[in-house]
Amino acid sequence: MFRHSIRTLLVGLCTLTAASQAATAVALAVPAEPHPAAPAAQALRQQTLSDLTTATKGEAFAYASYSLFGTQADREAHPAIGKLFRTTAQTELNKYLHQAATLTGLAGTNTANLRQAINGETYEHQVMYRGFADQARKDGDLDAAKLFTEIAADEGRHRDAYRTALTVVTTGRGTIPAPPKADTVLVPAGLPQVKAARTKANLDTAMHGEALAHAKYMLFAARANQTGNTALARLWKGTAGVEVHEHFAGEAVLAGLVRTTKANLRKAITGEHNEATNLYPGFAKRATAAGDTATARYFRDTAADEARHTAAFQRALNQLH
Ligand SMILES: [Fe+2]
Ligand SMILES: [Fe+2]
Ligand SMILES: [Fe+2]
Ligand SMILES: [Fe+2]
Repeated sequence: MFRHSIRTLLVGLCTLTAASQAATAVALAVPAEPHPAAPAAQALRQQTLSDLTTATKGEAFAYASYSLFGTQADREAHPAIGKLFRTTAQTELNKYLHQAATLTGLAGTNTANLRQAINGETYEHQVMYRGFADQARKDGDLDAAKLFTEIAADEGRHRDAYRTALTVVTTGRGTIPAPPKADTVLVPAGLPQVKAARTKANLDTAMHGEALAHAKYMLFAARANQTGNTALARLWKGTAGVEVHEHFAGEAVLAGLVRTTKANLRKAITGEHNEATNLYPGFAKRATAAGDTATARYFRDTAADEARHTAAFQRALNQLH
């Protein structure tokens, strides 16, 4: 039954357009149905759950982007701005994303987390990155085609390691594989290095997927540590490092994600302002109307914090002029 449902999912995915694949990747990452291991999530209305998923994805992307913006600020000899980006990045990951994940029941038992990760890696390995590589090759974006092909192979290795780990966790026999080592990619400020609009859109989808995979695996590592399975925690953390330092970073180079610190601050301000005044207040209203009061409170608190981030980034930008 498990295999059948995966096959159905993959067949369904193949028929989707690239744009709707982005949404599907997220749906895969966060279970569409409330997680059985998280009774708190069962009361959440479907719309609230979907909004929490959007929030989780956005926070994961903010974390990964701000980390790179912080390094760029250091390069330009603005260490205080570098620190501001890094501390904000940590807040997005450790506070908002963890709270959203708790509300959706994203992290379950070690077994459930491994199954969820195997599904995600299988999709990226068999469907997503192969499709992106084919598209980039057709459009003459050969560097992107090469990167997507390399990452597809990595995702297959991640899936295999998780499958082995699942056998160890469920049978108590064998050894959890050693974690992979990330080959950290440096991301200097630069323009996009791809031509086709489709390649740019797929890079954006891929970066969001990598950022989310990193964030999820860090949550799963914490869960594995809580259960005393330190070898599994090391596997999660090592793989999380590959997703962000190698995959996300490699894609960020081609996408031209990092610009000058002034431009990075402007981009961060636009994003934070939208989250503070539009996105999170809208989510809070919907959650209140649906009677999901805890989630409504979370969205309201987050909106207020995003307003503080907007102000902090604005002060930093003013100092640069
Ligand atoms: Fe945020
Ligand atoms: Fe992976
Ligand atoms: Fe990846
Ligand atoms: Fe923020």
